[in-house]
Amino acid sequence: MLDTIRLTNFKAFADAEIPLGRLTLLTGLNSAGKSTVLQSLGLLRQSGDAGLFGDEDEGGFLLNGTMVDLGTGQDVLHEDYVPVKGTERGIALALDADGTEFRWAAEYHAENDLLPLRSGAGQSGLPLSLFDRGFQYLKAERLSPAVSYPRSHEAAIRRGFLGCQGEHAVNFLRHHADDLMVEEPLRHPAVDSAGLLHQVDAWMREICPGVNLEASAIDGTDLVRLGYQFGTAGPLASNRPHRPTNVGFGLSYVLPIVIACLSAGPGSLLLLENPEAHLHPRGQTRMAMLMAAAAAAGAQLIVETHSDHVLNGLRIAVKNKTLPHTDVRLLYFHRSAGRVEILSPNVGPDGMLSDWPDGFFDEWENSLDQLLD
Ligand SMILES: Nc1ncnc2c1ncn2[C@@H]1O[C@H](COP(=O)(O)OP(=O)(O)OP(=O)(O)O)[C@@H](O)[C@H]1O
Ligand SMILES: [Mg+2]
Repeated sequence: MLDTIRLTNFKAFADAEIPLGRLTLLTGLNSAGKSTVLQSLGLLRQSGDAGLFGDEDEGGFLLNGTMVDLGTGQDVLHEDYVPVKGTERGIALALDADGTEFRWAAEYHAENDLLPLRSGAGQSGLPLSLFDRGFQYLKAERLSPAVSYPRSHEAAIRRGFLGCQGEHAVNFLRHHADDLMVEEPLRHPAVDSAGLLHQVDAWMREICPGVNLEASAIDGTDLVRLGYQFGTAGPLASNRPHRPTNVGFGLSYVLPIVIACLSAGPGSLLLLENPEAHLHPRGQTRMAMLMAAAAAAGAQLIVETHSDHVLNGLRIAVKNKTLPHTDVRLLYFHRSAGRVEILSPNVGPDGMLSDWPDGFFDEWENSLDQLLD
């Protein structure tokens, strides 16, 4: 498990230490640096996947790649950086994972998108959860509902990666529909079968009652198709599944999140950016309960959110003893005197918070005050 991320001169952060829990919520104002935390991990993973952490002489940060596109050195270097003579502080990332510190420091080249690691600063060994098969990074902007999705054996099956936009989720579901068994506490009690497809169906019904999924390959192509059935009984009802393009945004957007949570085993690392996008409030709360169950099953989740329903879903999961309160870390990012500050209210065993910093999910109350005034 990752215990801490340290960002030095990386985008919005001059020097920040970010403590993580088994399930961490990154919350706070827009442009406060939440996605930047996820991007730092995406950057490490894509650099490692490109073989740039193997040999110190050829190692480096690959700024643009399969997970993040950060630009060049000057885009990434913290804009208030002042070089200090005699010291070699540039862009650096560090992780504490299971008692070991991993640190990478790069040379600065304004125009380059490959920043070589400083000599002697290369890291021997890599934190397992970040480079393991169970790693998923689902971004805020996911694939819109589509008639077909890519069928990549390499990404979805061999690497088990759902894609940063969830583009491989349907193929993953098609391939593992019956062979991937969902274990407690992720198993939904409403269905007997532990098979991935039945479990995904059951959790999707928490969000959209009555829905059933069907994922199949399209013969003679490199594409897969997803169909939604709603089990309606009207005179014109047919068994023909509806196309994703005809069922709204919410289901397509949340499907990769549900699959990521249900397939996450112990040691997995899930980075989820705004998983609540396009979901109605109750769906957001239920999805948070699923995320809590994934954490209780041994995965680590780092979740950026603007949703108080996600926060409340987690608090309820703690109160219901799905997840110990000590496993939840709330981080509130806000700016103070131009710098990003991070506050961390605690969650108690009853789901209550130790404190509510100004601006931390207090808008509902602010609006109510105005309405009742
Ligand atoms: N090189 C840099 N130096 C300093 N600040 C930077 C640099 N690059 C980006 N930023 C700042 O980082 C912030 C963007 O951070 P990020 O995308 O992580 O926000 P966020 O908290 O995820 O926002 P949202 O809630 O809208 O998704 C902006 O304030 C931007 O000015
Ligand atoms: Mg963001």
